[in-house]
Amino acid sequence: MKIVGEILLPGDKSISHRSLMFASLCEGVSKISNLSSGQDVETTRTCLEQLGIKSTRIGNTIEIIGGEFKNPDSDLDCGNSGTTTRLMMGLLAGKQIKARFIGDESLSSRPMKRIIDPLSEMGANFISNNGYMPVEISRGVQKAISYVLPMGSAQVKSAVLLAGLSLDSSTEVIDAFQTRDHTEIMLQAIGADLTTDGVTSSVSNQKKNFKSFDIEVPADPSTAAFFASAASLLKGSDLLLKNVLLNPTRIGFFDVLKKMGGNVVIEKEWQVNGEKVGNVRIKYASLKSFELFEKDIPSLIDEIPVLAILATQANGVSKITGAKELRVKECDRIHAICENLKKMGVQIEELEDGMIIQGSQKLRGTNLSTFDDHRIAMSFTIAGLLTRRPIQLDDPSCAKISFPEFYKILNNLIKFV
Ligand code: S3P
Repeated sequence: MKIVGEILLPGDKSISHRSLMFASLCEGVSKISNLSSGQDVETTRTCLEQLGIKSTRIGNTIEIIGGEFKNPDSDLDCGNSGTTTRLMMGLLAGKQIKARFIGDESLSSRPMKRIIDPLSEMGANFISNNGYMPVEISRGVQKAISYVLPMGSAQVKSAVLLAGLSLDSSTEVIDAFQTRDHTEIMLQAIGADLTTDGVTSSVSNQKKNFKSFDIEVPADPSTAAFFASAASLLKGSDLLLKNVLLNPTRIGFFDVLKKMGGNVVIEKEWQVNGEKVGNVRIKYASLKSFELFEKDIPSLIDEIPVLAILATQANGVSKITGAKELRVKECDRIHAICENLKKMGVQIEELEDGMIIQGSQKLRGTNLSTFDDHRIAMSFTIAGLLTRRPIQLDDPSCAKISFPEFYKILNNLIKFV
């Protein structure tokens, strides 16, 4: 079995959420094509509609008209989406909108205190379930702050910057973790008063009329990682991933794959709406183990589940530390990875902030849980390509959160020679 062909994947999830939210701040019509097809991004679109921001789908393009936000008539149901919830809390706190956020079981167990804390310091009021959903904003932000990010979270950084966008004085966020910087790039592109030196970003309301924009969202590198992994693991594979987002804060996975001895070639590179984009060719390669530390984590945070699968096939022992943020993703991903790999017969040690994975392991086909987490479902589907007996996932359909077409596209790329 091998992976052969070329694909243009749906748009990056982070940029898709932001395109919708930021277009809602602009004067006139913005046109967004190749938007992520995942349910999470649709959740953002629905919440914006509840807030009075209309959007229309015309073919593969969403047209969205910016305007005044209104208080929603009912709860904002953020489903499974942490990005919708956290960015929207910042945005609405800036706009003095009163709203109550709810979510599914997974989202309701994820910490919101990390957003409530800085926004409360800015004078906003929240009623929450002890820092968890449901969360209600009863008063928006009143004053600018300087905020040092306590954890490597682009969602927290973005929430503070979005709230700060409404204040006269300058709000500053200091991000020593170098988390993804799409908020900064896109806010600058629409003409907001945002400056950044890559660590400290400052915003204020000094510029008010934001320019609408057209964007073709580059392919999601986090989704691309599943296919790149499959191609790296299966002999004879040759896969071209087209228009992939290559923002330096997002390509940790490809850097690690290269260091592992992966056959990764960027064939062409260009810029789209201030973001680096390129075509990436991946071929099968024999891989060696890797080590990841805290500083490496933000640029590949969502790719760790599939990196763990690669580690089981690499020569040597791989070690991941400094990744405790994985415990508060859509599920506790450290636990989920370790539990499933153990069931597959892999020697793996669970650490509080990571794991130690023995390489060159034979994977056993068995029943596995997705833990209701799209990235666990897709990562273990890739692992299942290596087993003699098929794996059985309890709920493969949860992949729809970021990538409903995952199984179809994967099947189309698999060739039996
Ligand atoms: C995201 C940031 C990351 C990432 C998530 C999307 C974003 O979360 O895991 O999938 O779009 O800002 P954190 O910022 O909480 O690490």
